[in-house]
Formats: sequence, structure tokens, C-alpha cells
Amino acid sequence: MQPANPSEAADPSEADDAKLPWGALAARPEVEHLKAYSAPLEGRRDLLRLDFNENTIGPSPRVVEALRGISAEQIAIYPEYDGLREALIANLSGIGLRTPLDPAQVGLFNGVDAAIHAIFHAYGEAGDRLLTTAPTFGYYTPCAQMQGMEILALPYEGGHFDFPLGAIQQTLSAEPRPRLLLICNPNNPTGTRLAPERLIELATAAPGTLVVVDELYEAFTGDSVLPLVDFAATPNLLVLRSLAKTAGLAGLRIGFAIGNADVVDRVSRVTGPYDINSFAVTAAFASLADQAYVDSYVAEVLQARDWIRGRLEVSGLRHHCEGGNYFLVWPDAAAARVESELRQAGILVRSMQGKTLLDGSLRVSIGTTAQMQRFWQAWDRVVVHR
Ligand SMILES: Cc1ncc(COP(=O)(O)O)c(C=O)c1O
Repeated sequence: MQPANPSEAADPSEADDAKLPWGALAARPEVEHLKAYSAPLEGRRDLLRLDFNENTIGPSPRVVEALRGISAEQIAIYPEYDGLREALIANLSGIGLRTPLDPAQVGLFNGVDAAIHAIFHAYGEAGDRLLTTAPTFGYYTPCAQMQGMEILALPYEGGHFDFPLGAIQQTLSAEPRPRLLLICNPNNPTGTRLAPERLIELATAAPGTLVVVDELYEAFTGDSVLPLVDFAATPNLLVLRSLAKTAGLAGLRIGFAIGNADVVDRVSRVTGPYDINSFAVTAAFASLADQAYVDSYVAEVLQARDWIRGRLEVSGLRHHCEGGNYFLVWPDAAAARVESELRQAGILVRSMQGKTLLDGSLRVSIGTTAQMQRFWQAWDRVVVHR
């Protein structure tokens, strides 16, 4: 079963070694050792959802209009993807690409989760090493485990969760050389940023490692690697982008992998021919054509972030509010209790219990200023400030 959001999956390293009741149907050992995901979190509608870093107001009205216009014929036939790669490239030209992209450099996936899964499937062999950071997005780990890979997750450094650049550089050049390096930039959930120039240097220094940059929250920092990179010169760099979060299409599932055409081809070989459905394709075209909507949502979130950061500073509570559309806060009371009381008040947030460096904290997504004001009023009621 897939989780509602794999970042919320329990640590799969706690796999259950119990004997199977039906030994004959055992899956690959790597799969048998994966911890079963908890059921998707249901009942989130009508609540203020500050738990999965989604867009909190929904996609562009043009997306909804385009979906309403879908015909019976379009539903009856298999999805067609013509022009979608070009539409993404046209959209990206707005950020100023130094080297133009070719459609063959764009892979289409059923969400970035599916792209991540495909990358591991195509490139991760049993015994290969995955190098990543901790804490970070939770889906890299089970994907590596499915392949039987060794995982090395280097912790962020200091009270501000600085990027462990020296340690990553050292590990990249040491034996065994990592097959994959996964960097979420800015990182979910610490917001840690790494300059795009450093990412290109890392990839250049490790030509035998596929360096994957997960840019899901890049819209909030504006430091994408895409404007700078030349994938002919740095073929081992792959960039992930999604319409799930900022553009508000999480329910439709569509994401992209952008890189060297040969790498994109290999990663695309391990997906099904029609993995992305027609609704997602229609929505993606409409969303990519209305960048102004996404830009204004991002501006709203950044304003809301300033507002909530001001409140957190006055409160004296430990907090960390950098990078993406989320922040971390350490309540004086038990995080699980605060999470549950906020839920009773109609507000969802995520406890970071058990995550490296983040025990006792909550991750709160940032929406509009009005939504953060509502959150803060509820917070005031349930948390005893210092
Ligand atoms: C860093 C990161 N990467 C990827 C994903 C998954 O994105 P998508 O919804 O496109 O599958 C998420 C969602 O939480 C995320 O936080």
C-alpha cells in the first residue's frame, strides 16, 4: 500500500522480520524486509491542512476549467503526451536557461515519487551505495531498500542545519563510490539550501555517481540548478520538479525529471507506457500556461512566512523557518499532544518524532497569511508559551 505522503512513512529500517504465514509467496528479500506503510491519512478535507506542504488554496482556476472541459472521448482513449515536454520547457524558459533544453531531456512521471522510484529501479543495484542527507524526504530510503542498496545519510550540521558539504565531498570521493547522491534542495523538512554552483561541482567531481536534485520546493528559494547546468557537460545530474505542491496538483500526480537525454531515457524505461493519466496531462498543460498564478501564490506564502516568523521570534520558542513553504517549531509541550489538539481545532500539522535531529518538533506548512493567523490563534490556545 502506498502512503498518502511517503515522507510521512515510518522509518523503514525498522522492518519486521516475522516469518511469513505463506512462505511460498515470499517476495524478494529486500521487499520482505521493507516495513509496511501505514494507511493513508484520510479525512483531511475541510481541515486546514498544514501537514503535507501542499498548496493550501488549490490550483489555478484555469486548471479547474480545463478539467471540466474533458470530453467522454478523452476519457475513453489512452492518454496522449504530445507537446507536454515542450510546454514544460516553455514554462522553464521563464527562469532563463543558459543551455536550451530538448524534449528528450524531459521525463514525465506519475508524480516525483514515481520518478524517484524509477531512478532507483534503473540505477540502484543491490550492494550499491546511496548517499543522502538526514533528515530529508522519507521516500529515498525505502526506494534504496527495495533495491538492496546500502544507505549513508549524513546529518545536517549545527543548530541551523547547515549542509554537510565537506562530509558529502569526502564520501563522494571515497570507496565505495556512491552510485546515487540524492539532495533535496531546499531540503524538506529543514529548508537547508545548497547553491546550484556547489551542486554542479559535486556532480562534476563524481562522474560515476548519479546526482539527483529534488527541487520540489525550489519556487520558494529561486535557486534552481537548471539555469546554470549544461547536461552535455554534466550528464550525471538529474533534476526533479513537480506540479504537486506549489501548483496545487497533488491529487492528480504529475512530476518531471530533467537531465541528460540518455539518463532520462534509462529512467523512463522502467515506467509503464501510460502511467500518467489524461486528467493530469490536461491539468499540467493549463497549469504550465498560467505561471502568474503560481508566482502570486509563492509571493503570498513568502509574505505569510515573514508574518509567522515574526510571531515565532516573539514567542521565544525554538523554531527554524527557512527554505520552503514549511517551518519547524519545538513546542514546550509534547509534540504529539500539540499535534492532536491542533487537529481537534481543525488544523493538521506533522510531528517530526523519530526524525534525525528533529525529535520534539512539529513541521508546519505555510499557506496564506490569513491561514497562518488562524494557525497561530489555535497554537496560542494549545501551547503554553515560555
Ligand atoms: C522533497 C519531496 N520530493 C518529492 C515529493 C513527492 O512529490 P510528488 O507529489 O510529485 O510525488 C515530496 C512530497 O512530499 C517531497 O516533499
